[in-house]
Amino acid sequence: MIQVFKPSMTQEEIDAVAEVLRSGWIGLGPKTAEFEEKFAQFVGTTYAVAVNSCTAALDLALKLLDVNHGHEVIVPTMTFVSTAHCVAYRLAMPVFADVDPHTLALDLEDVRRKITRRTRAIIPVHYSGRPIDLDALKEIAGGIPIIEDCAHAAGARYKGRSVGSIGDIGCFSFHAVKTLAMGDGGALTLNNEPWMQRSRRLRWLGIDKGTWDRTSTDKSYWWQYFVDEIGLKCHLNDIAAAIGLVQLRRLEAMNARRREIARRYGEAFAAYDFMETPPADTADVQSSWHIYCLKTPQRDDLCQFLQQKGIATGVHYTPIHLYSCYGNRPRLPQAEEVFKRIVSLPMYPDMSDADIQQVIDSVTQYYVTVGFIGTRKAPLKLPHAEAGQPKRAAA
Ligand SMILES: Cc1ncc(COP(=O)(O)O)c(C=O)c1O
Repeated sequence: MIQVFKPSMTQEEIDAVAEVLRSGWIGLGPKTAEFEEKFAQFVGTTYAVAVNSCTAALDLALKLLDVNHGHEVIVPTMTFVSTAHCVAYRLAMPVFADVDPHTLALDLEDVRRKITRRTRAIIPVHYSGRPIDLDALKEIAGGIPIIEDCAHAAGARYKGRSVGSIGDIGCFSFHAVKTLAMGDGGALTLNNEPWMQRSRRLRWLGIDKGTWDRTSTDKSYWWQYFVDEIGLKCHLNDIAAAIGLVQLRRLEAMNARRREIARRYGEAFAAYDFMETPPADTADVQSSWHIYCLKTPQRDDLCQFLQQKGIATGVHYTPIHLYSCYGNRPRLPQAEEVFKRIVSLPMYPDMSDADIQQVIDSVTQYYVTVGFIGTRKAPLKLPHAEAGQPKRAAA
């Protein structure tokens, strides 16, 4: 089976983990600190604070902005639920904005319409790794803080700068299948020193100093710490950080391979007007190509066909305002319409040339089978996906 996503792990990552396991320090410690320093350098911010997921990073980011009950935060509906859940964790209101049907990123005009005096933050998602137009968003935000959800986008660049360095805070995911993978992990990237200090405390229950810092630097009272604010326990550990340090060194090469795969899919499918390929990179917008999202009205049928050919696919995402926890009330027409047509094709750096060709051939074969390619007959009428409500399987 060709998977949709697959982490790329080499002997280097295995050796790095073995080194940490042998070191006698596997929790929050020197490898995490080293990862933070190198990741901040890579992104171009003064600080990075490493946590155990992007969900935790988003939660901390909203705490830093003192988002609370009665506040609103604008989020796109075409995203993973974490982007909105972190707002709900704060007892604030996620306000769902529609998405541009071409890029699947926030529809900036809808953002403009949804800003109120209660809006405390906007969380754009760099969907699939493609940076949103941050300059345009900043202009619309007019000073409202922007938290960049960079879960898909480690290595993506906007006008020559890394994402995560342009808004007020960046939040990254190093989950198992992300462009920089550690199993699980995340980071906030920021330039504000008090926020960095506070988020370092809040990721470790509010305790003012990590155990490593106390035991390695304090000459007396190394056992003593202070707790002025209650935090969660969501820091990274040194095993994951050791993997991350190797992945960070390999990131540009891995993303170059992703770009190459996207280029090959794009060339193969460009001639077909019955499907839409994702927007290509430009001088200003360089994607990290976490997701390769094809749009086709025959989405469900194509997925079934590819499944039978041993090719896994995904759908990223069901618009999250349609989940029952967010009311399940259709109201964002662009996202609801495009959702019926999106399919994520396999995309990961270790895909072989033969794997890529197999995906291209199988997609092509599907359209030959249904009469869209290589036949003089009129195309068959194909079933279109039903109106976009998430369906539960029968118990
Ligand atoms: C857009 C987006 N935001 C946030 C997250 C949460 O990331 P994590 O799994 O690291 O918590 C994900 C995870 O897939 C995501 O896709």
